[in-house]
Amino acid sequence: MNSTSNNPIGIFDSGIGGTSIWKEIHKLLPNDDTIYLADSKNAPYGQKSEEKILELSIKNTELLLNKNCKTIVVACNTATTNAIKYLRKNYKVPFIGIEPAIKPASINTKTKNIGILATKGTLNSNLFTTTSNNINQEVTIIEQVGEGLVELIENGLLISGKMTDLLTNHLQKLVKHNIDYLVLGCTHYPYLIPQIKEIIGTDITIIDSGQAVAKQTKNVLESNNLLNTQKAKSKHQFYTNTNVKMLKFILENNKNCSVKKLNF
Ligand code: DGL
Repeated sequence: MNSTSNNPIGIFDSGIGGTSIWKEIHKLLPNDDTIYLADSKNAPYGQKSEEKILELSIKNTELLLNKNCKTIVVACNTATTNAIKYLRKNYKVPFIGIEPAIKPASINTKTKNIGILATKGTLNSNLFTTTSNNINQEVTIIEQVGEGLVELIENGLLISGKMTDLLTNHLQKLVKHNIDYLVLGCTHYPYLIPQIKEIIGTDITIIDSGQAVAKQTKNVLESNNLLNTQKAKSKHQFYTNTNVKMLKFILENNKNCSVKKLNF
């Protein structure tokens, strides 16, 4: 353990979706303090240019570094696939990112067709293109942009008629291709899993990368001698640049989490 191992883990996302990753990290590393930034004012990132996503990722990174974070988890597929290479090159702390888990799906598929639901920014990124070109050539990846889903979640319409209609529309386009795996390529989407199951049934396996990111965070901290092994009660600060209501709701009013509005 070194002198900065007591410092918090920094996490950011374009909004509240990355809390699905925070929950897994907190489960695995309960002693670690965390600081989470929900850049909801700028959501969705998925429709923005690569330059804009990079600019926003730099802004979030610098804010977390000013708060002395020992590592940064980019809890956003769109920001990871468009910006993590730059961030790793230009800042000293270790970065952990999240990418759609098409590799495990491509290894396990029996129908040789896998579906991916992600943002336009993720599906169009060079990193995603490289990853998909490297999977088994016998497997077909059917891509679907989850247009509108992030906006509905951010606006408190997670469970609504509008969500059911939009989700059904997106998923039907994937299901008709005889997929047996559905990869969720956006950290907002794990909150939709119960509704997705209602629509696609139980024969299609849903994969999200939350647990894998938490394990990777632990490994990275361990290998950098940054793991906090103290038994003190951990502190969790959440900042949003819009309304705190949705963030509080998604955190189920967890008493260990302080949620504040901040201009960033
Ligand atoms: N949670 C982000 C992701 O994983 C959502 C992207 C967006 O804001 O469009 O991609």
